[in-house]
Formats: sequence, structure tokens, C-alpha cells
Amino acid sequence: MWLHQQHDVRNEELLAELLASKVPHAAVAAATVKHFWHDVDQTGAGGFVAEPEQEFVKFDPPARLAGADRKAYEMGAEIYQREAHCMTCHQAHGKGMGIIYPSLVGSPWVLGSEERLTKSVLHGLWGPMTVNGQAYDPARGVPPMTAFRALLNDEETAAVLTFVRNTWGNNAAAVTAESVANVRQETASRSTFWNPDELLAAHPLEPDLVAASASHAPEIKTNTALEKELLASDPVVLARVARARGNVARGKKLFYDARSTCYTCHDPLGGAARIGPHLPDLKTTLADAEVVESILQPSKRIDPEYAQVTVVTTEGRQFTGIKATDNNREVVLSNPAQSEPIRIARTEIEEIIDSPVSLMPANLVQLLKDRREFNDLLRYVLETRGSMGVTQQTD
Ligand code: HEC
Ligand code: HEC
Repeated sequence: MWLHQQHDVRNEELLAELLASKVPHAAVAAATVKHFWHDVDQTGAGGFVAEPEQEFVKFDPPARLAGADRKAYEMGAEIYQREAHCMTCHQAHGKGMGIIYPSLVGSPWVLGSEERLTKSVLHGLWGPMTVNGQAYDPARGVPPMTAFRALLNDEETAAVLTFVRNTWGNNAAAVTAESVANVRQETASRSTFWNPDELLAAHPLEPDLVAASASHAPEIKTNTALEKELLASDPVVLARVARARGNVARGKKLFYDARSTCYTCHDPLGGAARIGPHLPDLKTTLADAEVVESILQPSKRIDPEYAQVTVVTTEGRQFTGIKATDNNREVVLSNPAQSEPIRIARTEIEEIIDSPVSLMPANLVQLLKDRREFNDLLRYVLETRGSMGVTQQTD
């Protein structure tokens, strides 16, 4: 059986037979194999750099919260732990994960301006930012933070904010449903993420909180060894191995796990702005090895529909985004971190420069735990990409 295991082949019949064996030695060995195949294989699949925390954690409200605030805290603790809400990314300990999910512990974004915090959670965030002295940058793999405006009502939003402001040693005033309702109304026209700088221009970080946050600097771990190994391998071989050994169900779980970041751009929750193509709908044909490259080196081949350009105007101003419209009157750029499309008249354009960098971050595979997770994820992507496509390449 271990020989089968080494070749990633399972003989369930043989396992059942040995489990029922009267020979104690054989039954014990079989139980170990069973554990390996079923428990370790299945539940261990979500183990990115940090281990998954799927247990529901009981948080006790601090004594300073009374009455309605206490109730809100308890509701907030439950919302925080809902699937794909906060905990999947920021974790039960609140300290976030690796170079992609910032910490909520001691963060000025959490403890400071209530309006800035409410705006962040209603509409999501995407752009470079520094939290507790650590830089988070989409160019280095940071995915967008989910917009919760369609997922949580005012009372629920207030509850989860009250929770994060009063857990893990955080201590800041509770947030009320009325104040969330006001912010929601003020920002009702918004349909995309905030660029953090845009929010900071309106609500600068509080200097005393920034000074105090330095003591909460996170410990960062990433799997650069796996990335190195994959980049040094022949993509044709990587694809062949994934097709043979990867597990589609586990791969799908990884794709939709906040810890891999994939769904946040390719199939986001709650109808949020989609930054990357919906993989099943793709109609172009790519060889397996090209799909591998689009994950390992996204900038090598950029889907023209998602390519960024920089427009330089005759006045020397620059705008970056995806070309939504391009005709002889104007160019319209859309940018996921900007609420309004940017319209630039043709007569004002000096030059349009194609960006050599994909919106899809490089080095996401650093977030995977091991080669098996890569095989699973790749197999899922290979089988999903174009699966709804109608046109097939004929030659
Ligand atoms: C899909 C993963 C994801 C989920 C789910 C998520 N966040 Fe975030 N969050 C992020 C990322 C990524 C950033 C940094 C975004 C950037 O750099 O632009 C962030 C930033 C933040 C920040 C500002 C920085 C900091 O660490 O203080 C706050 C506050 C925050 N999130 C709170 C929440 C709350 C509350 C929830 C649940 C209601 C939540 N997040 C759900 C990924 C997530
Ligand atoms: C920050 C947003 C973002 C994240 C996160 C992201 N992608 Fe992408 N992805 C894109 C964009 C934008 C494109 C299209 C541009 C391009 O081709 O480079 C793309 C393209 C792709 C393609 C090529 C599509 C084609 O034409 O075949 C694949 C495959 C892919 N992504 C897989 C993944 C996987 C797997 C993950 C998770 C490990 C992931 N992506 C995470 C934004 C993202």
C-alpha cells in the first residue's frame, strides 16, 4: 500500500480488506495509511504558509463593553468567522498572513478613524499600503480586500467592526449601525475598491497610533523554495505531472480559499468588481504549458482584454488603467481602484504605452505549502479554463 502511496495511487479495496484484518499488525498499519489518505490528504490541503484555522473560536467580550455593545460584539465574533468573511484572510489571531494579509492587531486602520474603517470594509481596498510598519503591495501578490457592502447590512457591519476594535488587545469605541448607515449613504455611488492612498488623503492615519503600531510588526514567512523549484522546471512537465497527480476537488478548494487569493480576482464574492477573467468562460486555446506560465510568470503573456496601458497627455499627465473604450474621439480607462472611468479626449493624448506588467501578481505560488498543492491547483485550473467555451480551435 505504501508503494501505491508513493505513486499517488490509492487502492481503497485493499485498504478496506486490511482494516478488517485479524492480524493486529496489518490492521494498525492500515489505519495509519487510512489516516494519511483521508485525514491528512483532505484536511491538510488547505495548509498554505500558515495552518488553516477552521474551528469556531469563542471570543469573550471585554468587561468594558456593556448592554447593546456586548450583544454587537458577540454577533461580530460570529460574522468575523463566517466563511470567506474576515477570518479566512486575517485569521483567528487577527495577525493576518504572510506578505498578503495585513494584521488587524494594533493597526491604526482598525483603531483610528471610524469613518475610514467603515469605508474600507464596505467597499474593499486595493493598492499599496503600510500596516504596522510592513508594506503590502498588489505588485507583490496582495489581492483585493473584499467589499462587504452587498454581504453585510448596517447592523452586521457595525457588529464586526466593534468586534475587531475590541479583540486581541485592541481597544477602541464601538461602532453603531447608524454611523455605518451614514457612511453607506455618503458613498452609495461607489462601485470599486478604494485605493488606500485615496482614503488616506481624506482621513490621514493618526500619528500616535502609527507610532504605537511599530511594536506589532508581523513575522513574515513565504515559500520561496517552492517557487524556485517550479520556475526551474519545464512547464510541459509541470502540466503533465499535475494532470496525472493533481486532485480537482482539492484544487478547487484551494482556488476558492482566501489563502490562495485566486477567487478574489477571478470569481469574487458578492458580485464585487472582477479584476481577472472568469476562467471557465475563456474562449482562446492555450497549451497546458502556457497555462502554467500564466500562473508562474503572469507578465509573460497578458490577455489583451486585461492589459494595462499608461496614457500620457499633451500636458504631461499620466493615467493608468485597462482600455475600456478606444475610438477616434476618446480613450476610456477603467481602473479597479478608481470609482469613475477615466475619459481622455484623443486630441489631448500624446502617447499610449502598453504596460509590460500583468494585473495578476507574480509569485502567488509562494503562498502554497508544497508541490502537491501546486499540482492540485494547476489540475483544477487546466480542467476549468475554457470549460464553458463554445468555440474550439479547429486546426
Ligand atoms: C479575501 C481576503 C480578505 C477578507 C475576506 C477580508 N480582508 Fe481585510 N484586507 C485584506 C487585504 C488583502 C488587505 C490589504 C489591502 C491592500 O493592501 O490594499 C486588507 C486590509 C484590511 C484593513 C486595513 C489594514 C489593516 O490590517 O488594518 C482592515 C481594517 C481590514 N482589512 C478589515 C477586514 C474586516 C473587518 C474583514 C471582514 C469583514 C476583512 N478585512 C475581510 C484581505 C481581506
Ligand atoms: C490581483 C488579481 C489576481 C489574482 C489574485 C489572481 N489572478 Fe489570475 N489573472 C488576473 C488577471 C488580471 C489576468 C489576465 C491578465 C493576464 O493574462 O496576465 C489573470 C490571468 C490568469 C490566467 C490566464 C488566463 C488565460 O488566459 O488562460 C490564469 C490561468 C490565472 N490567472 C490563474 C490564477 C490562479 C491559479 C490564481 C491564484 C493562485 C490567480 N490567477 C490569482 C488577476 C489575478
